[in-house]
Amino acid sequence: MGTMTHKTTLKLDTRHIHDERLGPHRLTPQDVQALAPRLREILGEIAAERSAGRHRFRDLPLERPQLQEIKDLAAEYRETTDNLLVLGIGGSALGNIALQSALNPATWNLLPPDRRNGPRLFVLDNVDPVWFEAVMSFVEGSWDRTTVNVISKSGETAETSAQFLIVRDRLIQALGEAEGEDRIIVTTDARSGTMRAIVDRQEYRSLNVPDGVGGRFSVLSAVGLFSAAMCGIDVDALLDGAAAMDAAVSLPDPQENPAARIAAIHYLYLERGKPLHVMMPYSQQLRDMADWYRQLWAESLGKIRPADGANVGPTPIKALGATDQHSQVQLYREGPNDKVFTFLEVEEFDCDTIIPRAFSDIEAMDYLGRSEDGTLGGLLNIEKKATELAMLASGRPSLTVRFPQVTAHSVGEFIYLYESVIPIMGKLMGVDPYDQPAVELGKKLTFHFMGRRGYEKSPMEE
Ligand code: PA5
Repeated sequence: MGTMTHKTTLKLDTRHIHDERLGPHRLTPQDVQALAPRLREILGEIAAERSAGRHRFRDLPLERPQLQEIKDLAAEYRETTDNLLVLGIGGSALGNIALQSALNPATWNLLPPDRRNGPRLFVLDNVDPVWFEAVMSFVEGSWDRTTVNVISKSGETAETSAQFLIVRDRLIQALGEAEGEDRIIVTTDARSGTMRAIVDRQEYRSLNVPDGVGGRFSVLSAVGLFSAAMCGIDVDALLDGAAAMDAAVSLPDPQENPAARIAAIHYLYLERGKPLHVMMPYSQQLRDMADWYRQLWAESLGKIRPADGANVGPTPIKALGATDQHSQVQLYREGPNDKVFTFLEVEEFDCDTIIPRAFSDIEAMDYLGRSEDGTLGGLLNIEKKATELAMLASGRPSLTVRFPQVTAHSVGEFIYLYESVIPIMGKLMGVDPYDQPAVELGKKLTFHFMGRRGYEKSPMEE
């Protein structure tokens, strides 16, 4: 088991990658060592490029752009906010959702105001009208206590723009122009883009998506931090966790550097016929972290490789323990051996629930309360161990990222660790992790079919 240094608290357990019981699906220490020279080179390149202004997401926890402004704005609006609507999609939403599920109770929006440390949060990352109106029905009648955070780096995203137009209209209808527009806070590019132009024209309060930071790498900027601060999450601790991880993932030795270790495992398995990468938290709180990871991994690494035109990229899959033991594990154990598994495990849950002992004459009931692990948390962690070993018995490799506790600090570490794996993977695979050219055609076709001027000709004909 490896312990990360520099005050990080996460632990990376790779025993079930190297276990001999995996047979041909095992990675040997020699396999990993053979990649070490290339990884050392890559870590050097990333450090040099970072000094030259690349990989800007890496600087967020150190530079903390606009942190005081974010906190001040949140403190000001918390006073008058019962509902916070976040309008955004993709990288402008998934991090916000993941932070909220990890660090606030799952029942947050259902709690009475005196039992939650902030407004109800609704992240509207889709344009399904039924869902949209269902959320609207919660805020109709209390628009004066509703704050809207529109998040769009480009200001060109059809889904977010459509929602902005509707919500702005309802705010103005309910509160009048001045007060209605005052409930809108926009997070967008500091200088360019449609949303920035609107901010300037309407004089909206605004925050910046920092220069050079793409959506899926932006959760530790104003994009994720404003809604977190509004909902009482300790944003300093999040950034402290990320900063601690920065030290660990800056280590030049690939055997010491946790991001390089994770990248090596994933790359070697990708090369050896395991293109499917499953992240399976055994924690309901971390469930949406797997969703965030899925976008980060897919949009960054699923590419045409310029060197040879090959279509490359691992397919990230999210699962949830123990729930998906009763849904996916049959496939994971007996289906094609084309996957590598990452379990997220929590050593100490925020609370735990003792399973009472009853029916002492019925063993199928009695053992649960009798066991020294007879709590729900104990059972969940035993199930993780059981699944991991069952996978091992079928020759299925897995690694575990272990959280001592789910705190703002450890969540900050986790986010920064997985973001930092991406440029290393990009270099190993020979792709640029920061672009997403393949999503453009769908966007342009939407503009064409919606009749946007300038898109009269179908992009299919170009
Ligand atoms: O990660 C990304 O770059 C994307 O997922 C974007 O975040 C997403 O497309 C939304 O873009 P925007 O913030 O410009 O509205």
